[in-house]
Amino acid sequence: MEEISIGLLGLGTVGSGVVKIIENHQDKLIHQIGCPVKIKRILVKDLNKERLVHVERTLLTTNPAEILDDPDIDIIIEVMGGIEETKIYLKQALLNRKNIVTANKDLMALHGAELLTIASENSCDLFYEASVAGGIPILRSLVDGLASDRITKMMGIVNGTTNFILTKMTKYGSDYEEVLKEAQSLGYAEADPTADVEGLDAARKMTILSTLGFSMKIDLDDVLVKGITGVTKSDLTYGKQLGYIMKLIGMAHREGEKVEISVQPTLMAETHPLASVQDEFNAVYVYGEAVGETMFYGPGAGSMPTATAVVSDLVGVMKNMRLGVTGKSAVTPQFKKQIKEPSE
Ligand code: NAP
Ligand code: HSE
Repeated sequence: MEEISIGLLGLGTVGSGVVKIIENHQDKLIHQIGCPVKIKRILVKDLNKERLVHVERTLLTTNPAEILDDPDIDIIIEVMGGIEETKIYLKQALLNRKNIVTANKDLMALHGAELLTIASENSCDLFYEASVAGGIPILRSLVDGLASDRITKMMGIVNGTTNFILTKMTKYGSDYEEVLKEAQSLGYAEADPTADVEGLDAARKMTILSTLGFSMKIDLDDVLVKGITGVTKSDLTYGKQLGYIMKLIGMAHREGEKVEISVQPTLMAETHPLASVQDEFNAVYVYGEAVGETMFYGPGAGSMPTATAVVSDLVGVMKNMRLGVTGKSAVTPQFKKQIKEPSE
């Protein structure tokens, strides 16, 4: 391969970080895959918007077909968000035999099984590491690093926005609405932050984690969800006086074939390591029958951490392309099991 051509869908918080890493780490990318990586075209909604990163104006388009149907584009990076329209785009890209990297947990939690099946039928990779816990490589750790173990429990903080809000409210008595706005301006929150504060974003991530960790069919509807909108400053103050810190905790527990998954505000003893996870950081405990307790910690939201996961997936796809093994990813089998369910 002389050069890899990328089509980027979205140039917001994460998309800008992706452009920066591809530009600034070009030498590392060439070292890893043996040829340069070039962004050929970028889909946006508004051609006239001021951007967080400089790109040639001629790269921008509002016509998805210019990317999805371009035979010269090898890999699509989807960082535009959304569900139904985005699903149509990604299906079209896969049918055109383009590999995909996405950060979209909304889409993967709902339609991951179907998209991964189409990907594999078309010998394409569909990687989604950035969809859970931003810069922490948790999905690969579950699927590869802990491949030999039986996971029994996963517990942690998987939403950066709500952790940022709870941290500021607990430490400084900050006002909920003001901190939410700050989280939005820092690029942590979703375009519509309702999914963050109502716990749905964390529930989507717990669905993806549980599907991969437990190798089972898990539906988003299986998750008990409660967000932080009902949490008051006095809840946090009284908790603190008693030695507890409020966190939005995702919990997935397996006993035999029975699985319980929840997302809810939880008072953690202030000596518990999760109580000291601050701001937009995430942390996930994973318990395996053989390994025991492991903990994964790092930035859970924001432009550069999330873009790191996206571009690392890109490297994974490019290595598979070079080896001629795209569509055979180790990250997919558990998700693919889900597709059998409707005919059962
Ligand atoms: P964002 O800042 O809102 O950026 C979205 C980008 O996509 C914008 O450039 C927008 O174009 C473009 N776009 C959206 N809908 C479009 C459409 N229908 N047609 C064409 N372009 C469209 O969002 P983000 O924070 O980067 O998040 C992107 C994805 O990454 C989401 O799936 C999100 O859940 C996921 N994610 C985000 C983070 C994070 O920390 N932000 C972390 C992990 C995963 P305009 O700029 O012209 O409006
Ligand atoms: N809105 C998400 C969060 C972005 O705050 O965790 C990272 O997935």
